[in-house]
Amino acid sequence: MSTLQEAVSRRRTFAIISHPDAGKTTLTEKLLLFGGAIQMAGAVKARGEQRRAHSDWMKVERERGISVASSVMTFDYAGCTFNLLDTPGHEDFSEDTYRVLTAVDSAVMVIDAAKGIEEQTRKLFEVCRLRDVPIMTFVNKLDREGSEPFDLLDEIEQTLALDVTPASWPIGMGKGFLGCYDLWKDQLILMERSKGGMPGLGEPCSGLDDPMLDSQLPSMAVEKLREDVEMARALCKPFDPQSYLEGHLTPVFFGSAVNNFGVRELLQGLAEQAPRPRPQPAQERAIEPTEEKVTGVIFKIQANMDPKHRDRIAFMRLASGHFKRGMKLKHVRSGKLVNMHNPVMFLAQDRELAEEAFPGDIIGVPNHGNLAIGDALTEGEDLHFTGIPRFAPELLQKVRPKDPLKAKHLGRALVQLAEEGAARVFKPRMGADWIVGVVGALQFEVMADRIRTEYDVPVIFENTTLLTARWVESDDAAALKKFLDANQASLADDHEEQPVFLARNAWHLDRAQEDYPGIRFLKTRG
Ligand code: G4P
Repeated sequence: MSTLQEAVSRRRTFAIISHPDAGKTTLTEKLLLFGGAIQMAGAVKARGEQRRAHSDWMKVERERGISVASSVMTFDYAGCTFNLLDTPGHEDFSEDTYRVLTAVDSAVMVIDAAKGIEEQTRKLFEVCRLRDVPIMTFVNKLDREGSEPFDLLDEIEQTLALDVTPASWPIGMGKGFLGCYDLWKDQLILMERSKGGMPGLGEPCSGLDDPMLDSQLPSMAVEKLREDVEMARALCKPFDPQSYLEGHLTPVFFGSAVNNFGVRELLQGLAEQAPRPRPQPAQERAIEPTEEKVTGVIFKIQANMDPKHRDRIAFMRLASGHFKRGMKLKHVRSGKLVNMHNPVMFLAQDRELAEEAFPGDIIGVPNHGNLAIGDALTEGEDLHFTGIPRFAPELLQKVRPKDPLKAKHLGRALVQLAEEGAARVFKPRMGADWIVGVVGALQFEVMADRIRTEYDVPVIFENTTLLTARWVESDDAAALKKFLDANQASLADDHEEQPVFLARNAWHLDRAQEDYPGIRFLKTRG
């Protein structure tokens, strides 16, 4: 096998989806701990707090206790290299989250045993389903009283219309939680009740009838375990790797992240079963990861990650080839060559220069705004990757600087934030104020905070009476011109100077569509 093939077969690029508070941060930290990427529990939180303490622009995050910025964490385990892409948890940031989910090959769904499937989990699951992303489920907080395992399995199956199969089975719950029986490896793993302690490696059994179980567990617990597993095996489908890979079946692990419990089995499951990098769809063809030539797609932009450096990082997922630092890649949209002399990898604690990377890996490309979401970088081929979702803004507000002399600065800030994908911005053809369009209301606050701290322009957002924004286009240039000339008062231009129709209400939009049948009113723009 070539180096490239070997590296591809070892890559696992995934994200964790969950509802806030289910335990995503805790599980992330424990995965890094098992992967040897951090030395002690608490490091992820501590890092978060340190960052929060030092950087002003994350004020909103601090105030709301939510994670605005996403990042990438890379670690090794069981011979595999894992890339864990963090997804911001709050529903208002779903746009960014959705884009992150286009860059992973599989997902882990974390569920709080006491709460079951919650709203945000369901929404994120639907995004995964759209792309047939395979999902492993981790039922967390077994050390607390929660729903019965059968009820949880049933809820997942019913709510998500997804086949379920237990990969482990919990023994007891809450104060009486003793551990799990690993159904894949036939072993007993007992829970140790100390927060920092790692659970043992598990006692191999010959099966559920092994008398070893009787010697290790109270008799009532063994009896219940045997009954439960027998019933689970009768009720649930057996694990079928193909069905999992196609996104029809989810294996379910039970555990307690804060107690490190169940984490190793989940990681092992990912190493053994989760998909290696998948072919990436492009308009021209599907790009196989093992193709020799390097190609990649930008799925996320983050500006000013380090306020001291005012940098902007484009996150590129490598689709194919063996990337080496110093390569020159073609930026397909502009036709220009980009010198990749300082790409960064996101290791658990620090950013480091990426000397090399393989398909499935994420590298950060520092740039000054020339790279945009959806852009392709290649060794020359003109490729256009597909599948990065774009969203029509559902909420529109006017924005103006508190100091009218700063209008120009505000304009520049808005264009940059729009390029980053943080929001849509529109400059009305009549009137002085910009219009900002977002998917979730909290994005206005984040924008205001960032414009103030990163660009030094305090701003005021105000409600508008606008309902929606539609990009307008037509195959008939004369018809388009006629429409644009007649509707100046309802037109704006986006940050790339594309015309947009701002509708006051549903009637206004319907009317325009009826009056100008040759014009397409698009919710999104490619
Ligand atoms: P999130 O990223 O999904 O929002 O969840 P996070 O990991 O921050 O966990 C939310 C809360 O649940 C935290 O408690 C965390 O300690 C707790 N938690 C996570 N895993 C487990 C578990 O296996 N069992 C129990 N009992 N609790 C768990 P917190 O009180 O908000 O924070 P902290 O002060 O305990 O850190």
